[in-house]
Amino acid sequence: MMDSKYAIGNGQNSINKYKIKMKPLPVIFNNSSGPPNAKKIKLNDENRNSTNGHTNNNKPKISIQDQRRNLPVFDKRNKLLELVKRHKTLIILGETGSGKTTQIPQYIHSARLQENGKIGITQPRRVAAVSIATRVAQEFGHGMTVGDTVGYSVRFDDCTSNKTKIKFMTDGMLLREAMYDRLLMEYTVIILDEAHERTIHTDVLFGIVKKAQKTREDRNQTPLKIIIMSATMDVEHFSQYFNNCQAVYLEGRTYPVNINYTIKPHDDYQTSCVATFFKIHREAPSNHDVLIFLTGQEEIEACAQRIRLLAKDPDVQGPSVKCFTLYAAQPSAQQMSVFQPSPPNTRKVVISTNIAETSITIPGIRYVIDSGMVKARTFHPSTGLELLKVQRISHEQAWQRAGRAGRDSEGHCYRIYTRSQFELMKKSTVPEIRRANLLTVSLQLLALGVHANYFDFLDKPPKEATVAAFEQLQLLGAVDDVNSICLTPVGRKMAKFPLDPRFSKIILAAEQYGCLQEALTVVSLLSTESILINPVTKQAEAQKVRQKFCSAYGDLITLLNIYREFEAVGQNNKRIWCHEHFINMRNILHAREIRNQLEQLCKKCDMGAMSSCGGDLDRLRKCLIMGMFMNVAELVRDHQYITLDKKQSVQFHPSSCLHRQQPHLVLFAEVVQTNKCYLRGLTTIEADWLREIVPDYMKSHSLRFNSS
Ligand code: CDP
Ligand code: MG
Repeated sequence: MMDSKYAIGNGQNSINKYKIKMKPLPVIFNNSSGPPNAKKIKLNDENRNSTNGHTNNNKPKISIQDQRRNLPVFDKRNKLLELVKRHKTLIILGETGSGKTTQIPQYIHSARLQENGKIGITQPRRVAAVSIATRVAQEFGHGMTVGDTVGYSVRFDDCTSNKTKIKFMTDGMLLREAMYDRLLMEYTVIILDEAHERTIHTDVLFGIVKKAQKTREDRNQTPLKIIIMSATMDVEHFSQYFNNCQAVYLEGRTYPVNINYTIKPHDDYQTSCVATFFKIHREAPSNHDVLIFLTGQEEIEACAQRIRLLAKDPDVQGPSVKCFTLYAAQPSAQQMSVFQPSPPNTRKVVISTNIAETSITIPGIRYVIDSGMVKARTFHPSTGLELLKVQRISHEQAWQRAGRAGRDSEGHCYRIYTRSQFELMKKSTVPEIRRANLLTVSLQLLALGVHANYFDFLDKPPKEATVAAFEQLQLLGAVDDVNSICLTPVGRKMAKFPLDPRFSKIILAAEQYGCLQEALTVVSLLSTESILINPVTKQAEAQKVRQKFCSAYGDLITLLNIYREFEAVGQNNKRIWCHEHFINMRNILHAREIRNQLEQLCKKCDMGAMSSCGGDLDRLRKCLIMGMFMNVAELVRDHQYITLDKKQSVQFHPSSCLHRQQPHLVLFAEVVQTNKCYLRGLTTIEADWLREIVPDYMKSHSLRFNSS
């Protein structure tokens, strides 16, 4: 047990300000009992020959094949294969890190259960799909590189070949493939992994694979095996949906985890995470690694920077510190590096988003620091706004996070919230389908020939969200009316682009406005992580050197200016140029790659020449209205705006280049909510343009001030 009260810093200047207190609770957490009942059978070890859990950074290096044999799932291989063979649909539950994702596809492959087809495994996140495929390719051996037998496919990045038999992909990619082949004939086995996450794509896939399996059976075609895998879930609910299918629970190997809550609430959870880390750092042996859960890239990088700086402070006791970060927008080599064991007498600390909650297991973790927060997309049908919001996690998530400390041996979890705050959290996470904007999904379903109202959902989305989505599809010209079950020709083209339908519409409209080049650039830049770097310590400097790109027309045109300049710089000078202008080179190159792919799609849609509007940016701004007219905000008074669609009160985000100005009307790309609702990605527009371009919409959405 930990000391009951402690303060961090012990009077050392540099970290003194991070004092926080925590108290332990007499709760020993052991989740090895697994989720309850249902039609599930427990698989006990067949012939456990090793209790040696895992590679740990102070143990001798174990070969990759031995690591595989040491995973809990290894002993159950034969029984599992037996079940997979016997059942056309199977639910497999098992603790995170037991080897489900990396091993089961390989078992199926070596037993040739997939026969002549492929095994497709979906992941909710691209980071997980890429890193797991890379790992499995390594495990496969024989100098195999990813893209051969084992490959992956994520949006804008296909790493498969005609040899690929085991294909990891994002759930969004498989859904996209279903649009081209509803029966998914390429696959004989489909594994929908991380089902408990209930992403909107996985939820839709449940219905798609169920239907594909049934149709293939009815038509006497090659059967499709469906496996649903998850860490925790309501087995009964899933099993019923899949015609009372069999569920199996893989007993894992977990150790008790000691849970600590803070004595009082801590609003600044980031600082508290840093402080807690240094408390652990002072006391724990150097081979005890730490995992910190925060919400997103900015927060994680800021926290990493603070830890790295403080760790160098001569007053800080303890071994040296090696700090890793893990979030979606990271180069995959960097993502893979978190799996490397740290050198002797060094403490590894990994700061991660909820990726490390269940999708990715990092060996050697003994301490978890849980901020209790997560960034999630939420949609409010009443305000019509889709927000990226930092919010409290659920109990399910809190237990998953804590469990990460008990993989190799007994561990500790520090929750940066009080016991009573914990009690107030929701029991489980609300499925995304019940809180997301259904625009994209409704369009995709129509491309599959189904109206969202008639789709066989595991959990039905709220009626008003479907209605809102269809109204928007109609406004975008993708359907003729809200009850249509088929798409208009424009709608069919929109569905071909792997983008938010509003962005696809902008690209399609660009032909008419003669600004296809610029529209592609802007949409690509909006489809990647931010290309702007704003280091905490050099914010003013970054803004100053980029000042010359700032456009009075707003952020999207500013981004366009940056991209144009980047393209104009000579190949050999691009790196230096990016460095000097605080531009993230990797992200801008990624945007260029996306742009190329979108350009190919335009060609496939028989769009004309790559027109450019040159300096006539009014054409581009008008074109943006074609897709984004539902995202208009109007000035009410002194820096206060309201959205035209649902009259929500909003402000400009301080990072916007327009935030000191007050244009009458703007289009916005995104809404972020902290204590207020902020708009990001702004473009100024004229009232007359709105009336000219979307007259029907403007009939029902009048402006407060009718002048332009
Ligand atoms: O899917 P599940 O959570 O059951 O486990 P998994 O993802 O198959 O992971 C099995 C083991 O492989 C974990 O202990 C991971 O630490 C390890 N692994 C690794 O060492 N390197 C990777 N790139 C991926 C997984
Ligand atoms: Mg997994």
